[in-house]
Amino acid sequence: MTADELVFFVNGRKVVEKNADPETTLLAYLRRKLGLSGTKLGCGEGGCGACTVMLSKYDHLQNKIVHFSVTACLVPICSLHHVAVTTVEGIGSTKWRLHPVQERIAKCHGSQCGFCTPGMVMSMYTLLRNQPKPTMEEIEDAVEGNLCRCTGYRPILQGFRTFARDGGCCGGNKDNPNCCMNQKKDHMVILSPSLFNPEDFMPLDPTQEPIFPPELLRLKEAPQKQLHFEGERVTWIQATTLKELLDLKAQHPEAKLVVGNTEIGIEMKFKNKLFPVIVCPAWIPELNSVEHGPEGITFGAACTLSSVEKTLQEAIAKLPAYKTEVFKGVLEQLRCFGGKQVKSVASIGGNIITASPISDLNPVFMACGAKLTIISRGTSRTIQMDHTFFPGYRKTLVGPEEILLSIEIPYSREGEFFSAFKQAFRRDDIAKVTCGMRVLFEPGTTHVKELALCYGGMADRTISALKTTRKQLSHFWNEKLLQEVSAGLAEELKLSPDAPGGMVEFRCTLTLSFFFKFYLTVLQKLGQQDAEDKFGRLDPTLASATLVFQEDPPANVQFYQEVPKCHSEEDVVGRPLPHLAAAMQASGEAVYCDDMPRYDNELSLRLVTSTRAHAKIKSIDISEAQKVPGFVSFISADDVPGSKETGLANDETVFAKDKVTCVGHIIGAVVTDTPEHTQRAAQGVKITYEDLPAIITIEDAIKNNSFYGREVKIEKGDLKKGFSEADYVVSGELYIGGQEHFYLETHCTIAVPKGEAGEMELFVSTQNTMKTQSFVANMLGVPANRIVVRVKRMGGGFGGKETRSTVVSTAVALAAYKTGCPVRCMLDRDEDMLITGGRHPFLARYKVGFMKTGIIVALEVNHYSNAGNTVDLSERVTKKALLHMDNCYKIPNIRGTGRLCKTNLPSNTAFRGFGGPQGMLIAEYWMSEVAVTCGLPAEEVRRKNLYKEGDLTHYNQKLEEFTLSRCWDECLASSQYHARRSEVDKFNRENYWKKRGLCIIPTKFGIGYISHFLNQAGALIHVYTDGSVLLTHGGTEMGQGLHTKMVQVASTALKIPVSKIYISETSTNTVPNATPTAASVSSDINGQAVYKACQTILKRLEPFKKKNPSGSWEDWVIAAYEDAVSLSTTGFYNAPSLDYSFETNSGRAYNYLSYGVACSEVEIDCLTGDHKNIRTDIVMDVGCSLNPAIDIGQVEGAFVQGMGLFTMEELLYSPEGSLLTRGPSTYKIPRFGNIPNEFRVSLLRDSPNKKAIYASKAVGEPPLFLTASIFFAIKDAIRAARAQHTDHGTKELFRLDSPATPEKIRNACVDKFTTLCATDVPENCKPWSVRV
Ligand SMILES: Cc1cc2nc3c(=O)[nH]c(=O)nc-3n(C[C@H](O)[C@H](O)[C@H](O)COP(=O)(O)OP(=O)(O)OC[C@H]3O[C@@H](n4cnc5c(N)ncnc54)[C@H](O)[C@@H]3O)c2cc1C
Ligand code: FES
Ligand code: FES
Repeated sequence: MTADELVFFVNGRKVVEKNADPETTLLAYLRRKLGLSGTKLGCGEGGCGACTVMLSKYDHLQNKIVHFSVTACLVPICSLHHVAVTTVEGIGSTKWRLHPVQERIAKCHGSQCGFCTPGMVMSMYTLLRNQPKPTMEEIEDAVEGNLCRCTGYRPILQGFRTFARDGGCCGGNKDNPNCCMNQKKDHMVILSPSLFNPEDFMPLDPTQEPIFPPELLRLKEAPQKQLHFEGERVTWIQATTLKELLDLKAQHPEAKLVVGNTEIGIEMKFKNKLFPVIVCPAWIPELNSVEHGPEGITFGAACTLSSVEKTLQEAIAKLPAYKTEVFKGVLEQLRCFGGKQVKSVASIGGNIITASPISDLNPVFMACGAKLTIISRGTSRTIQMDHTFFPGYRKTLVGPEEILLSIEIPYSREGEFFSAFKQAFRRDDIAKVTCGMRVLFEPGTTHVKELALCYGGMADRTISALKTTRKQLSHFWNEKLLQEVSAGLAEELKLSPDAPGGMVEFRCTLTLSFFFKFYLTVLQKLGQQDAEDKFGRLDPTLASATLVFQEDPPANVQFYQEVPKCHSEEDVVGRPLPHLAAAMQASGEAVYCDDMPRYDNELSLRLVTSTRAHAKIKSIDISEAQKVPGFVSFISADDVPGSKETGLANDETVFAKDKVTCVGHIIGAVVTDTPEHTQRAAQGVKITYEDLPAIITIEDAIKNNSFYGREVKIEKGDLKKGFSEADYVVSGELYIGGQEHFYLETHCTIAVPKGEAGEMELFVSTQNTMKTQSFVANMLGVPANRIVVRVKRMGGGFGGKETRSTVVSTAVALAAYKTGCPVRCMLDRDEDMLITGGRHPFLARYKVGFMKTGIIVALEVNHYSNAGNTVDLSERVTKKALLHMDNCYKIPNIRGTGRLCKTNLPSNTAFRGFGGPQGMLIAEYWMSEVAVTCGLPAEEVRRKNLYKEGDLTHYNQKLEEFTLSRCWDECLASSQYHARRSEVDKFNRENYWKKRGLCIIPTKFGIGYISHFLNQAGALIHVYTDGSVLLTHGGTEMGQGLHTKMVQVASTALKIPVSKIYISETSTNTVPNATPTAASVSSDINGQAVYKACQTILKRLEPFKKKNPSGSWEDWVIAAYEDAVSLSTTGFYNAPSLDYSFETNSGRAYNYLSYGVACSEVEIDCLTGDHKNIRTDIVMDVGCSLNPAIDIGQVEGAFVQGMGLFTMEELLYSPEGSLLTRGPSTYKIPRFGNIPNEFRVSLLRDSPNKKAIYASKAVGEPPLFLTASIFFAIKDAIRAARAQHTDHGTKELFRLDSPATPEKIRNACVDKFTTLCATDVPENCKPWSVRV
């Protein structure tokens, strides 16, 4: 059969594809075939939104053109016949005109690294195409499926808010009744006057949007014909009628139906499944119809979840409330379901037939007894979904030749009540437990006639708790029933301690908690319906249990000190200049490593990694890989011409030779012509192993004495004496989990061999040009002067690209050397997470001695970090933790020790804060226990112990210009801490199942590298004869705005406008031996180097200025040139005398210290472990800010990243050391809805810093720890819950490890339900996951 032509439009241009391959995604096609690289690849699984584009098509059922956002990484191109695609390039450009969405996100500082920005823009753009005047709620809904790792979301929302009809900023125009200045306090946005100026914004003019292609509009009447597309391995058939579809299914019973591809796409990409025949039913009217019948609403199985949502919302608005109980349950599940992009394409039938044990909809459909119509050629049957519908794991009663035609969701009846609940680690996450619950009473009574409790997440399929529910028929809805059902569920749904998915007690408890919520909700509704009060009223203190957390529109305030009016306009230091590349990032023009055009002879590389934690490699068989089309080479250790050893401590291998030491250890790499072939070829490499004993956890390492190096120690005072004098001594243990960097752009390298003398050019996404160069040179056995490393920008780094990027770039360089061709590799998200390590998990054992007054007199902490299989930066990370073990407190007698655990995990590495946050969390942990033990308010005890000006730290550094007390006092006052403390206590008295917590936490962060030689930087300036300046320095741009700040420094120093200065890239042939861009010091040290270079240029121009004082910059430059004066120079800086020694505990560790304080309030749901961030106030000392917009962005971004660290992000490992969380579907970074509802950031005024450029201070890392205020507010709330639900007093010390996930919170809120679910774990039980 000949293949059809695929016809679609991209940005108004017609695309005719004669060889459409069903395995090709829209994202790959846009980026590689059409060269539209604005749409980014962040995850490939629909979970990050970086690839968002808008699709438009004529909808025959609605008779209109519809626009919707999709994630291009999951859209097969074959599904796009007669569809118009709009990408970020199609709506605006810096070359002609930015679209208002692009302009506003850029000018409102909503783009830092910019990798997420095109996706954000397209989500918002799509919303505006459908709704030019949206509400704030609609805006939040539209961007729900988009992740950002840099900004902390606030500036993005603030930029988009300017489009909102209920929150748009008119710039203070008094005539506007909707002016935000007139809104009520809790929704108020106060803009510091010059952070951005809404008056600068272009208005949105919907009439100017590109039109739907007229050709497609004409085609709407043309008859549709069946289409066939043939790929290398897969055939795609687009059926046009139901008959065709059933015939095709009869012919190809094994064929998969693809509607949204949100399930099949994932199985193909990540589970390596091959489906040779795919049938697409999207055009078939019967599968897309919606019918309102006498018993319910019937949806065709291909109806998208968005259309289901809309239909049910409309029905709820029209129908009597009693009829829509089930609909509300479905909507509740859809509220917490993926993002807009997923819901716009994912089908209701796809969700049912996928039969996922954690499907959110199936428990609801089972509980309500939804009717499914199933047909095949010649047969049709309608069945009610019940416990028999899913006979096994991912199995249904639908036969191979059958399809699901439709589903009827029933109206509820009088006396019938329905609820649906879901608990995940993030609202839109895959559920841990999800459920649908229904009760029908005998008319006018609370006599149970029918009861259905259906759960997902409790077995290998959706289940109904029949044993328990059957016993309750004819019983009354009362306390006795509650108790019996609770006990019944605990028994019937019991999980074995090693159940897949782990979290056994948590999941069991949730099943009970959900029922309790349902029980109370029904009581509440009965009470509301009952005029005579015969069912009684629900106790108001219990009512909070029935409320689910809603996301209110966030309000935010930023305060910063404006530069004095007397400063000239051209003196840009201190002004909130937007990131210089923001506009290009928003329009998709900014070039990231993988956006570089492909070379004609370019090859693609994929790493082959170990599946064993510790093993001998017995054999490597590449015969299957060689059969893959386009196969070129397999690269291994035997190909390395130079040194096979690499790494900072020279303890790593370029490729493992005989032995692997972690899952993810790089053994080899395959090189083929395309990324798709490379993936297949890599899967074809078969490796056999002989397992060796592995050490996975910190505890394993301690037991086996498996450490790197010697113990690191800091000691001061007389510990023994300190403890003997203390009134109290408390000891304990705390575990802090690791963290994945989750930069939106994964590791990427392109290596281009130059053909002579061993020269090679590498384009790399790295924070460390120097080590990338030296490791490659070392591996190739050539001098470093043959290797050029170039970095234009990164899509985020956060420390993850400080050293670990070299494992990719060294392998790619070897492939380029061996093949003689340019070679490219961008890691898939799952590979990136598996291979490149993250923040170090820490285990701390502490002992603290203190007086009754709360004054600390002695402290001992033994720190253990999980370093993984190589040393990398682990020693420095542990040292940093020790240097921060005091946080901000004066401790006269102190000893801290640190050990680096050598384990069989991928090497852990630098991550924003670099051990500091771990050290400080431990400090605040024991500090909170001191306050509890003394029975004193925590803020009082913290304040009492704070350092004072002139004090010596435990590493003997004198605290000068100590602004912490000011930060503390300002934060305490601006947060109205004391008044809110009373309010929190009152709330907790009045609410039994929801509790609030409040906490204020300080931070002190040392600035400077501990290794003194790293505190150096270089800059290079070229001034051209037209007066333009090309600036280069050793730092790399990863979103932190370093280049923008450096241009500001140069602009102010040279007294020329910013527009005359340009930074193109960072490279080893312009600034050699550059220190990695890390440790927050890059602005400090590079700023000084830039300043010095500018001074040299100024000095050389001085004679010409003197000669022509009224001349312009250009005049002086040209005069100097004509006088043969060099207009190119370098600048070099070396931070003075940082010479701290751990051996002697003397010398200066840091150039200076940064300070900040945060106060946070949270509310927890004691029944589910969910929490909501109500308000955070931050006061941060950034000296005299070089750029307040960028600095506020860093404070907010770091804070939100810290929220992930301490409350959400949990890396799970199997007992065999394999990372189980390898993508956004399983690893949850904060999203829009997680940021505090009220987020107030204030930069401390009048605090110049003598030690850094233009009196500024470092900002990248210091604010991250402030999120500990949320962690301890959660602990505060749990304390209130424990005190109420058990006979534990408020003085009880209880353990809460980090991160405080819903599981940990729920398990800590001990009550009658947790007691019922207590699970004994036998000694020999192998759990599903272990704490590493
Ligand atoms: C980012 C992301 C987030 C998600 N979040 C959630 C979530 O929160 N909760 C949740 O429950 N799920 C979630 N999912 C899972 C997924 O979106 C749903 O299962 C979705 O409804 C599947 O529909 P689809 O049209 O995309 O299925 P497809 O991938 O197109 O097809 C899925 C399966 O259904 C079969 N099928 C489809 N239609 C029919 C039919 N009419 N008759 C017979 N077989 C049929 C196909 O053969 C295939 O086996 C998420 C997925 C992603 C990618
Ligand atoms: S790349 Fe498509 S959603 Fe992440
Ligand atoms: S700016 Fe959003 S991920 Fe970097």
